[in-house]
Amino acid sequence: MANAQVTAGPPAARRLASRLKRATKEILSWSVPPASLEELRLLRTVRPYTMVPVPRLRTLWKLANRASVEGLSGAFVECGSCNGGTGAILAHVAAREARVVWLFDSFEGLPEPKPQDGERAKAWVGQCLGQEEMVREVLSRVGAKTDRVQIVKGWFDNTLGPAQTGPIALLHLDADWYESTMTILNNFYDRVVPGGFLVFDDYGHWPGCRRALDEFLQTRGLRPVLMPSDNEGIWFRKPVDTRNGSTPSN
Ligand SMILES: C[S@@+](CC[C@H](N)C(=O)[O-])C[C@H]1O[C@@H](n2cnc3c(N)ncnc32)[C@H](O)[C@@H]1O
Repeated sequence: MANAQVTAGPPAARRLASRLKRATKEILSWSVPPASLEELRLLRTVRPYTMVPVPRLRTLWKLANRASVEGLSGAFVECGSCNGGTGAILAHVAAREARVVWLFDSFEGLPEPKPQDGERAKAWVGQCLGQEEMVREVLSRVGAKTDRVQIVKGWFDNTLGPAQTGPIALLHLDADWYESTMTILNNFYDRVVPGGFLVFDDYGHWPGCRRALDEFLQTRGLRPVLMPSDNEGIWFRKPVDTRNGSTPSN
């Protein structure tokens, strides 16, 4: 009965009813309901600007907040920002503190993959083409302190090394390919503070990303506990003592 009244009501009421219905359906599809209205609002705001599924968005939100609550010093850094949805989650949390955020992307889409990335990767060259204006738009929509967000356009080979990020509290790696992931690790792993978070979007999806991390950890003799974000994403904390690979509690 109530539905029939809304359907017959003025266009604004109909639009509101349909938005509420969509929002309820979406929230019911998440395995765990959002912990707060802030998280819910943030997720809904960034969704149109990201290709990352909700469970991994929620992991980023959770870990950025943990870095903040635990007082981890250092920047939030993302490599592979595309249209800015995931970076906006980091920038929203960072806006509460004097924390700097760095967002790196070619804004030219994905580069040529390497054999380690597998046959399937070849079809993706130039895909995931983000726009810097979209990144700026979502940053302003989530209340980011834009004077503390650095957006760096270019290929990681050229941009990561010279970037004056300082120590890193949370590093989000979302660049799909073997070489891109290895370049990020080679440039930034040592900048991550002990106990800092490393979050990998593609570990269970793209073989090259997985291989890059596995090889990097093996070369360094590290065995952190890899925590699942969902069936594809993983994260871990940088071991505090690099001599014995001990890991802070997850
Ligand atoms: C899957 S998208 C990132 C998705 C994004 N985090 C989101 O919220 O939707 C991967 C991005 O990594 C970037 N990328 C991959 N390898 C790169 C490289 N070597 N240098 C610069 N950008 C790179 C691509 O341009 C692309 O925008």
